[in-house]
Amino acid sequence: MRLIIIANRLPIKLGRSSGRVVFKRSEGGLATGMASLHAGFEIHWIGWPGTHFDSDMERGHVTSLLSRHAFHPVFLSQEQIEEYYEGYCNNIIWPLCHYFFAYIQYDQQALTAYREVNRMFFEAAKAMIGPGDRVWVQDYQLMLLPGMLREEFPDLSIGYFHHIPFPSYELFRVLPERAEILRGLLGADLIGFHTHDYMRHFISAAYRTLGLNCELDEIRFVDRLVQVNAFPMGIDFNAYNQAPKRPQVQAYCQTLRQQLGVQKLVLSVDRLDYSKGVLHRLKGFADALERHPELLEKVSLLMLLVPSRATVPEYAELKKKIDQTIGELNGRYATPNWTPVHYYYRSFSPDRLMALYHVSDIALVTPLRDGMNLVAKEYVAAKRDKPGVLILSERAGAAIELADALLVNPNDSEAIGEAIAAAVLMPEDEQLARLRRMQALLSRQNVDKWAADYIEALDVIRERNRDLREARIGASHLHDIKQLYAAADKRLLVLDYDGTLAPLRKQPEQAVPETRLMEILEELCRTPGNTVAVCSGRDRATLDGWLGDLPVLLAAEHGAFYKEDGVWHSVTQRFPEWTRELLDILERTTSQTPGSRIEQKQTALVWHYRNSDAWLADLREKQLINALMPVCARMDLNIMRGNKVVEIKSSDQNKGTEVMRLVAKDRYDFILAAGDDVTDEDMFSVLPPDAITIRVGDFSQTARYSVGTQKEMLDFLGALAAERF
Ligand code: UDP
Ligand code: G6P
Repeated sequence: MRLIIIANRLPIKLGRSSGRVVFKRSEGGLATGMASLHAGFEIHWIGWPGTHFDSDMERGHVTSLLSRHAFHPVFLSQEQIEEYYEGYCNNIIWPLCHYFFAYIQYDQQALTAYREVNRMFFEAAKAMIGPGDRVWVQDYQLMLLPGMLREEFPDLSIGYFHHIPFPSYELFRVLPERAEILRGLLGADLIGFHTHDYMRHFISAAYRTLGLNCELDEIRFVDRLVQVNAFPMGIDFNAYNQAPKRPQVQAYCQTLRQQLGVQKLVLSVDRLDYSKGVLHRLKGFADALERHPELLEKVSLLMLLVPSRATVPEYAELKKKIDQTIGELNGRYATPNWTPVHYYYRSFSPDRLMALYHVSDIALVTPLRDGMNLVAKEYVAAKRDKPGVLILSERAGAAIELADALLVNPNDSEAIGEAIAAAVLMPEDEQLARLRRMQALLSRQNVDKWAADYIEALDVIRERNRDLREARIGASHLHDIKQLYAAADKRLLVLDYDGTLAPLRKQPEQAVPETRLMEILEELCRTPGNTVAVCSGRDRATLDGWLGDLPVLLAAEHGAFYKEDGVWHSVTQRFPEWTRELLDILERTTSQTPGSRIEQKQTALVWHYRNSDAWLADLREKQLINALMPVCARMDLNIMRGNKVVEIKSSDQNKGTEVMRLVAKDRYDFILAAGDDVTDEDMFSVLPPDAITIRVGDFSQTARYSVGTQKEMLDFLGALAAERF
């Protein structure tokens, strides 16, 4: 089974040294984490090799070097690196997702380059994808790619994982192309985040920007379900946990200890990035020294900053400030025997890094925002059986799992200083107990488990989407249904009105039948052997006004009334009483929900909220149902949630009872029922299994088939009406 991972960065980056191409390990959680996967797949990577290669010869050489590792390069021009990578990815999306709103430098050219490069990744993937492959797109650099892939491969299993935070809707909405980005992401079957907060923000953006139907962790998008879920990424626990046993790592540990002296060592490791809160952290360390003079000469901070995106102005600027702050701090506190901050601006080899983790007494990990932060997890694993304390920002995704860390607000330097002092004083047995609990969790939730959980969820949702696709009425289904239709002597067609025969309108009175619909209904009625019924939630007068001249049977108010031979009949003699108590509840909800309104029918009271703000309506709907429940239970009334409506009605009749009444009137050998709303499920569920039941615009547990839109439904009916036999 092949897994094609598509990420902006390959796990290795290439560079040049003395005219030769050289390989280096990529830094950053995505690359280090994903590269350590041992999943049971044949893994292929598509990604940018990290450097610009001009000549075809060099590109050819690089391609063949990389192909040995199943890495497939996408080459970017210098201009694309500036516009797409530095520009759109790191000057717009990165600050947006990390809540650095003021850093966003909006630029239309950058967006154009982003689209273009996503398309290049698409072309590279397209050339590789084969039957049965799973494609897993990684991170914010490629948010349009899932949509591009979906368009080309409707059937492909596509996952997307967002490794950085997803911001709240209030922030996300500032992006002019927010809808395009969301549609791109929704091309995936499964969208993964590190935490449920990011997941919640994404769902809220999808639902508020695109007005999509979201049911818990599922989004209905066009004709598919998109599952959204939280999968906190793990690390290769054993690699970190076993490392201190290796002689090379042990040797590094010894050297480090000798070089750094006997002070308590506080470790800080990050890519140099403004999201990591480095200046606040330095201030926190200075605060600890200022407020706890007993720490002077006893504690040193080892700060490792890995160069990152240095050509983006904010990063270069930050580097200057950090250099300056460390200079000032050392200038102020250093003594001949003690350097408060040891500062390294480069990357360390994995073995040196493991040694650093192992020997450090405290890890200070205080990002202002961080999707996950693997450094925190790596530190805990590499401590093995040595004491150590993790001080962790509550705004790192890792904080959700690492509850035994000392959690701090990364903006609060005083709190950081106090946490350092507390960590120095923490008894060893407490340090060990906390580490053990965290290690137990990290060893279970390791990176392989993370990937396996993700792929398993991807397979489940993919299966469901396949079932849904198979239920869609396509050319072959239409052919079969037409044959059954033609072969039958007595046919019953029961059709819902709004959303099935006519499009849903903002104002319900605008849903007047169009000429084409009238012609199709006339044609269907004229066909010998056909009985056509329109079964709607509308009241009698509206149905009479719109369809009264046609020879169709009518049922109003979900079957409470039916019209036959020109006369309306009532199914029930018990009409509910719309008491002041009920009306008060509805009126209160309506006045608190701009755009909503009440419709009063003889057998039902309806609260419509199609034109209200989606989030507010959702909240009010729940509050309304809570308020209605005791009253309706007492009055023996049903509460039904429909398509942007809540309906209160007597429990005697529904569309199911009406359809059964119709079925019982003759010996039909072809029965078709179609509808778009939950109320139509009542029809589908009472019909025999061989009936042609069709849900319009949505998925159904009970209908055999579905069609995507109301227009498609009309086309389908038009095709039946055109049948001649
Ligand atoms: N890292 C590295 N070389 C270094 C320092 C760090 O490869 O010299 C790795 C580190 O082991 C970790 C990753 O860089 O896996 C940083 O990931 P994290 O999730 O902490 O932050 P990100 O860089 O993804 O924002
Ligand atoms: C974070 C992002 C990754 C990115 C990494 C390093 O971990 O989530 O997508 O690769 O930072 O950044 P870089 O710009 O060097 O790829």
